[in-house]
Amino acid sequence: MTVTTSTEALIPDEIARAAVLPESYMDEKNVTYPAFKWLRENNPLGIAKIDGFDPLYLVTKLDDLITIERQPEVFANGLKNPILNSQADDAFIRGLTGGSIRSIDVTPFMDPPEHTAIRRLINPWFRPGNVKRFSDQVRALARREVDRLLDFDGECDFAKDFGLLYPLRVIMTLFGLPPEDEPVVMKLTQEFFGTNDPEEQREEIQLTPDAAGRAWTAAIASFNEYFHQHTLDRRANPTEDLLSVVANSRIDGELIEERYCNGQYIAIATAGHDTTSATLVGSILAMIENPDQLRLVQRDMSLVDRLVEESIRYVSPVKHFMRSATQDAEVRGRQIKEGDRFMLCFPSGNRDEEKFGPNSHDFDVTVDRGKHAGFGFGPHQCQGMMIARLEMRILFEELLPRLKSIELNGTPRYTQTNFVGGLKSLPVRFEKA
Ligand code: HEM
Repeated sequence: MTVTTSTEALIPDEIARAAVLPESYMDEKNVTYPAFKWLRENNPLGIAKIDGFDPLYLVTKLDDLITIERQPEVFANGLKNPILNSQADDAFIRGLTGGSIRSIDVTPFMDPPEHTAIRRLINPWFRPGNVKRFSDQVRALARREVDRLLDFDGECDFAKDFGLLYPLRVIMTLFGLPPEDEPVVMKLTQEFFGTNDPEEQREEIQLTPDAAGRAWTAAIASFNEYFHQHTLDRRANPTEDLLSVVANSRIDGELIEERYCNGQYIAIATAGHDTTSATLVGSILAMIENPDQLRLVQRDMSLVDRLVEESIRYVSPVKHFMRSATQDAEVRGRQIKEGDRFMLCFPSGNRDEEKFGPNSHDFDVTVDRGKHAGFGFGPHQCQGMMIARLEMRILFEELLPRLKSIELNGTPRYTQTNFVGGLKSLPVRFEKA
C-alpha cells in the first residue's frame, strides 16, 4: 500500500476513526457527521491510518466523488476490495478464495469490459419505461402495507414492523419469488449488510477478529444455495419476472455462468432492500424531528418527488464504496500513487456546504437541492434508482395522507455498519388521519 504520509495529509486519529469505523455510524449525528464536517473544512482528501486497516484516502467533497467515480480506468473497483474491510477480514476472504478478494461475482467488484457486459444484461429491465409497468403492483402492495401499519393501534417500531418489510416485498414481487420464502430472504439480506453488527451475526462467529469476513462469506454461500434451484427452474420454464431475465441472460448466445446469475440476484436483493428501507425509516425520523416538513408535504403532495430526493440525500444509506488507483494521478492537489485506496464517503458529499449551502445539515423539502451523491456517479451509479424512487414515491403517497401525527416513542437505534444501513429500530406513536 503506497499512500503518501505527509503530515499535512494525515487525518487526526479520532477524526479518522469517527469517519471510518462501523461503530461510529451508530451515533452518526454526534460522531460521523461532525467528523465529516471537520474533514471537508480542514482536510477534504486526507489519509486515514487506523490500526488493523489499510491506509485510505477519505473522499469527503461532492466534486471529488464525481471526479473519481467518472474515471473508472484510473480509479478501479476490482483492483482491491470495493468494500472496506479490516485487514483480518480481507485475509480471511483471501484464505477462502485462494488469494482473490473477489468473494462474489457482483457488478461493484467489476471493471470494464466485464462490468459493462454484465450490467448491460439487465439494464433494459431497469429503464424508466419498464419500471413504470410495475406501478400498479407496487401501489397495491404499498396500500396493503399502510393498512397493516395503521392496524398497529397507534404504536409500533417503524423500522422492524414496517420499514424492513415493504421494500423486501417489493423486491420479492419484482423477482417473482414466492411469498413463503420471505423469512429466508429477509434473514439473508440482513446478515449480508449486518456483517459488522454483532446483533446480526451468527452466534458461532461473534467476537472472532475476522467475524465480518466470516459473516460475509457465510451469507454469500447461503444466498448461492437459495438461488440455485430458482435458476434451474427459470431456465427450464422461463417467465416474465426479473429472476427469469437474469437466469436466461446470454452473452454471445451462451447462457451466462451461474456465478454471474448469483451475483446479480444478490446485488438486487441486498442493494434493493436495506437501502430503501433505511431511507424510508430515516425519512420518517427526519419528519418527526421536522414536523413542519411533514405538514408541508401533506398539504401539497406535489412535493413528494422532492421529499424522495431529500430523503435519499439526507439519510445516505450507502455509507461508502471503495476505489483503488490503477496508476499515479493527481486529485485536489494530492499526488496519488498506483494502488492507493479511496473511501468514497457518500454521506459527507451529501452534506457538502459548497454544494448544498450552509443549511446542508437540514432536512428541507422547500429547496431544490439538485444533484446529490446518494446513488453515486459514473458507470457504477445505482442501477435500481428508478425502482427506489418509484417505491418511495408511491409509499409516501399512500402513507402521508393517512397520518394525522407521528412522534417518537423510545430511542432510535442504528445498525453498526460503515457500508449500507441506517436505523434498525424506530419506536413511534402515531394517530390516523
Ligand atoms: C434509496 C435506495 C437506494 C440507494 C440510496 C442506492 C444507492 C446505491 C449506491 C450509492 C450504489 C453505488 C454507486 C457507485 O458505486 O457509484 C448503488 C449500486 C447499486 N444499486 Fe442501489 N441504491 C438504492 C436502491 C437500489 C435498488 C432498489 C436496487 C435494485 C432493485 C439497487 C441496485 C443496485 C445495484 C445492482 C448496484 C450496483 C451497480 C454497479 O456496480 O454497476 N439499488 N446503489
